[in-house]
Amino acid sequence: MAAAHLVLLLLVAGSHGFPTVAEASEAHPGYAGTDTCEGPAEVRMGIEEYGGGRIVDITHAYQPDLPAFASGEVTGPVVRLKESMANGSLYNLSELRMECHRGTHVDAPGHINQDHFAAGLDVDTLDLEVLNGPALLVDTPRNTNITAKAMESLRIPKGVRRVLFRTLNTDRKLMWKKGGDLSYVGFTEDGAQWLVDNTDIKLIGVDYLSVAAYSDLISAHVVFFRIPNIILVEGLKLDDVKPGIYMLHCLPLRLVGSEGSPIRCILIK
Ligand SMILES: *[C@@H]1O[C@H](CO)[C@@H](O)[C@H](O)[C@H]1NC(C)=O
Ligand SMILES: *[C@@H]1O[C@H](CO)[C@@H](O)[C@H](O)[C@H]1NC(C)=O
Ligand SMILES: *[C@@H]1O[C@H](CO)[C@@H](O)[C@H](O)[C@H]1NC(C)=O
Repeated sequence: MAAAHLVLLLLVAGSHGFPTVAEASEAHPGYAGTDTCEGPAEVRMGIEEYGGGRIVDITHAYQPDLPAFASGEVTGPVVRLKESMANGSLYNLSELRMECHRGTHVDAPGHINQDHFAAGLDVDTLDLEVLNGPALLVDTPRNTNITAKAMESLRIPKGVRRVLFRTLNTDRKLMWKKGGDLSYVGFTEDGAQWLVDNTDIKLIGVDYLSVAAYSDLISAHVVFFRIPNIILVEGLKLDDVKPGIYMLHCLPLRLVGSEGSPIRCILIK
């Protein structure tokens, strides 16, 4: 079993650019041992509201301790000062370097579907109409991955097109844990198939780094990406947000040719 997982991890690392354990620890050699602008050490863990509670930020701050998608690994610094006033420059200038599937991010259809990738279905072509509109935040049953049975039990009405699934991952504070944890909850292949067959959902949001449970990592993604107009948003910060209907606004970066992008998502009451 452990060996099978290792093989899967290596396959995934090889074909999709997820770091192997060895690579992840030296993910950004250029940043190793140099000054990084890590910002304030304090990370706000609870709900982050603006406008007297009207706007809720559901994006994780990109900071070095964010979990990476590898057991026990962290993202590491993603920004650093390239020019620094402290070093005599006339200005400060930060540089960004990161894997596009870190923290709160979106998967474009080309992520795990070569035909879509070849067809140019990158993050720049994602439909802003799907990424922005009414969304339902639901709590999934805590004792299971998102299987067909779990999906059925949620009784999400037809016509609902955007759903944010809050799971055991939020209770376990996995996005706040220093180091990736591959025992997170996500969709199983049959859960993904049930969603595609029985709902009108086009935007799927989840509270850890992958929509798919690790055991079904590729197969559940494959099911979703058969439909090029389904958008997957991963690594959302749903702590302490009440279940219900919100206006969701998600904006990816216009990274031409990329099958993933960091994304800023907010909810408006
Ligand atoms: C400032 O200069 C020192 C010495 O060259 C170097 O080690 C350090 O990384 C520089 N810091 C920045 C932010 O450029
Ligand atoms: C520029 O960066 C330095 C660190 O190198 C910092 O001390 C300084 O406050 C920054 N200046 C501005 C104007 O942000
Ligand atoms: C979900 O699936 C993962 C394997 O992908 C497993 O480690 C985890 O225990 C499962 N979680 C639940 C609540 O069944």
